Amino acid sequence: MDTSAINQVIRSRRTVKPKNFTSQDVDQAIIRTMLENANWAPTHGMTEPWRFSIFRGAARQRLAEFLAETYKSLSTPESFKPKKYDGMRQNAMLAPVVIAIGMKRQESEKISELDELLAVACAVENLHLTATAFGLGGFWSTNIAATSDAMGEFLGLKPKDRALGLFYVGYPACEWPVGDRTPIDGKVQWIDR
Ligand SMILES: Cc1cc2nc3c(=O)[nH]c(=O)nc-3n(C[C@H](O)[C@H](O)[C@H](O)COP(=O)(O)O)c2cc1C
Repeated sequence: MDTSAINQVIRSRRTVKPKNFTSQDVDQAIIRTMLENANWAPTHGMTEPWRFSIFRGAARQRLAEFLAETYKSLSTPESFKPKKYDGMRQNAMLAPVVIAIGMKRQESEKISELDELLAVACAVENLHLTATAFGLGGFWSTNIAATSDAMGEFLGLKPKDRALGLFYVGYPACEWPVGDRTPIDGKVQWIDR
């Protein structure tokens, strides 16, 4: 394998928010490739717990309204931020494709919920890396509305399943962002004996 290719895609993957997307649509074949690659994430007990709902076209308006109203209903007068409410109304319309992320809870609950959540996160990384390879930006948003029980119901999930946010996809209108990480050395201990 060409190891430089994986270094490039992993290190180039960037969060790009909907306000920085062009209006260019994303080909369905690209979305399918992203989903196929998400499906190859590791999965404890082969439960494959990731679930995706793809919002495009007019459906984004319904999603946007649901998110904004859910945010409002979950806020207190003190916590409500009009800017956040407006952002929720706008974001879905600024992205050509919005992928809602869900976690399907195993019937027997033999596999821990933590493992199922971790598997879904791996699947989302696969989505995002694949988007990167196609020149697409992505933004995983886990705001209070997008991860609420109401969101789960909106997506048709069962009570024990979880809504895990939204993944906005689009072509960046801006320069490809520069990433920022502190060195790995401070996060690692090498244990040899
Ligand atoms: C599980 C998860 C949830 C996230 N939720 C949010 C969010 O709600 N709002 C936000 O601005 N960014 C969110 N992000 C994106 C981070 O802000 C972003 O990854 C970080 O700024 C690093 O930028 P990069 O992805 O370009 O490397 C989330 C990332 C992860 C992994």
